[in-house]
Amino acid sequence: MFIIGFVGAIVVTQISNVQCEPTPIVMYHGMGDTAHGSIQNVIDYLTQTRPGIYIVTIQMGSNSFEDYISTYFLNLNRQVELTCANISADPKLSNGYHGIGFSQGGQIMRAIAQRCPTPTMKSLVTIGGQHQGVFGLPRCFGSASSICDYIRKMMHYGAYLPFVQNAIVQAQYWHDPLNAQQYVDNSIFLADINNERSSKNETYRTNLLRLEYFVMVMFLNETTVEPKETEWFEFYETGSIDRIKPLEDTDLYRNDWIGLRELNDTGRLIRLSTIGDHLIMGLDWFQRNIVDKYLQ
Ligand SMILES: *[C@@H]1O[C@H](CO)[C@@H](O)[C@H](O)[C@H]1NC(C)=O
Ligand SMILES: *[C@@H]1O[C@H](CO)[C@@H](O)[C@H](O)[C@H]1NC(C)=O
Ligand SMILES: *[C@@H]1O[C@H](CO)[C@@H](O)[C@H](O)[C@H]1NC(C)=O
Ligand SMILES: *[C@@H]1O[C@H](CO)[C@@H](O)[C@H](O)[C@H]1NC(C)=O
Repeated sequence: MFIIGFVGAIVVTQISNVQCEPTPIVMYHGMGDTAHGSIQNVIDYLTQTRPGIYIVTIQMGSNSFEDYISTYFLNLNRQVELTCANISADPKLSNGYHGIGFSQGGQIMRAIAQRCPTPTMKSLVTIGGQHQGVFGLPRCFGSASSICDYIRKMMHYGAYLPFVQNAIVQAQYWHDPLNAQQYVDNSIFLADINNERSSKNETYRTNLLRLEYFVMVMFLNETTVEPKETEWFEFYETGSIDRIKPLEDTDLYRNDWIGLRELNDTGRLIRLSTIGDHLIMGLDWFQRNIVDKYLQ
């Protein structure tokens, strides 16, 4: 579990055009969390600062326990499909929405942008998301230690074995820089949405380029996600477990496999960092740096 820190007072922003309905927001929570768990702070904050806003918080399954368990054991491709079906059927989202993903919900939300073009995602904000996966589960995202120990064991046993891939969410974004080809060939989620395979899905690029903004937040004092630069779409150099390769030097960026270069060239790829450990984000910081600029 994590806490979203509250720093400073809530400022009720004056909405200049009151006739204009605020753009709805769809949120996806992280591992070991639930739709109304720690992100409830952000939901409450947005509800207070933007009266009348419609917020959807994605829940997998019919109750919080199923939602929680799904963060470890419900195939991410299935989570994307279920979410797509849910938001497509929601008439209140038909004019578009902003997507916010927290932690592993960041890469899920991005997959929704890439695979689910209707309704339109306007801006995508990922907060501590793992766009290049993880290599390690340092504090195991601070959650239930027995589930975590089991997952850690399975990763060591063989993250890219088909039965591990299919059963465990974290295997689906496990990125082993020492076995790069195995990752590309066998990762059933991340290697696919990052267009790592030789046959590229052009739709992913087309869809991601429909975003007004793609905002990524990295936590400078991160102790949960390894490496923290994955939150900015960066990762270790192949064959290294300590040298980070700048995004602009990767094939994914240079050859623009999913549209990041074009997003940046048009001023729509925004990389922000904040002091704090995983998901410890001041709501006033969130307001000034994200809501005011990219979630109008
Ligand atoms: C989407 O899922 C939520 C939560 O499970 C549910 O309350 C809502 O009715 C669903 N909406 C649609 C349109 O299926
Ligand atoms: C590419 O992605 C789209 C959206 O998910 C999907 O409908 C399509 O089948 C994919 N194409 C290929 C060749 O996999
Ligand atoms: C957090 O990170 C910043 C920037 O790297 C650093 O200056 C600061 O000392 C760190 N704070 C803690 C408590 O480690
Ligand atoms: C994105 O564009 C800015 C200038 O607009 C540039 O400074 C930055 O290096 C670019 N980022 C990447 C990852 O290329």
